[in-house]
Amino acid sequence: MYEDGIARDGLRTGDHIVITGGGGGFGRAFCKRLARMGARISIWELNEESGRETERLVREAGGDATFFKVDLSSSASIDQAIEASLKAYGTPYGIMNNASIYPRASVEKMSVDTFARTLQVNITAPFHIIHAFGPAMIANKRGVIINIASGRALEGAVNGANYACSKAAILSLSKTVAMEWAKHNIRANTIIPGVSFTAQPLENTTPEELIERGKQRIPLGRVGYPEDMAGLAAFLFSADASYMTGQAVAMNGGMIMIPQ
Ligand SMILES: NC(=O)c1ccc[n+]([C@@H]2O[C@H](COP(=O)([O-])OP(=O)(O)OC[C@H]3O[C@@H](n4cnc5c(N)ncnc54)[C@H](O)[C@@H]3O)[C@@H](O)[C@H]2O)c1
Repeated sequence: MYEDGIARDGLRTGDHIVITGGGGGFGRAFCKRLARMGARISIWELNEESGRETERLVREAGGDATFFKVDLSSSASIDQAIEASLKAYGTPYGIMNNASIYPRASVEKMSVDTFARTLQVNITAPFHIIHAFGPAMIANKRGVIINIASGRALEGAVNGANYACSKAAILSLSKTVAMEWAKHNIRANTIIPGVSFTAQPLENTTPEELIERGKQRIPLGRVGYPEDMAGLAAFLFSADASYMTGQAVAMNGGMIMIPQ
């Protein structure tokens, strides 16, 4: 496929990818798209119903996926899911740290416990997962990590210090892993989604308001959808992205132009 003789590694049929929050809006689209590309998917999800539904949808389309119930707020639960996924599919080629929580309160009203719990799910769990699978991925000399951040990492969030801090941290985690593991042919990049039509923003707005916000405020005239993010993930896993690591790619209809 490439005419320059340079070897480029990308997702191969049968490669295992662990996707957290695989029952959610973006997570389900990631699972479906990457399974269509031939990946075998570990669906990590707290919500049993949505996790099983993703598993059903992937299998119905001829793909291979298994749901694992995991609570990312518990390191014991993460350890169990790591063991179960390794048993099912072996060392992962890919990790997608996608799940997050966003309990909202102002700085003066948010409890320290809520702040700490948000950081546990949104940043400590991703570190735990990368740290646990890393040595085997390094031994394999190939791998791709995608972490999901948010524009809030760059802008801050009114009533969301917990969320904004966790998303800023995941940007730094991606870059650090990218620098440390480039020599092992493991790439780490971040997707920065713009406001999209999923459950998370709908926690504090209506579907109509969300669609209207897209029309009024987003340069390309609409909010994002899970398939937008899935297309970017497919690229980041592909051999076409084999020269790309440590980057944060915003997919947001032009809402935030990241200063270079
Ligand atoms: N939708 C947006 O507008 C938007 C914008 C920027 C960033 N993001 C990010 O995109 C990612 C996906 O979010 P989404 O929009 O699909 O939201 P979503 O709420 O549909 O999905 C999040 C999923 O994470 C799961 N989850 C929550 N807590 C968990 C836990 N303790 N253990 C295991 N799973 C848990 C939920 O059950 C849910 O399925 C998140 O990291 C989010 O911060 C979303």
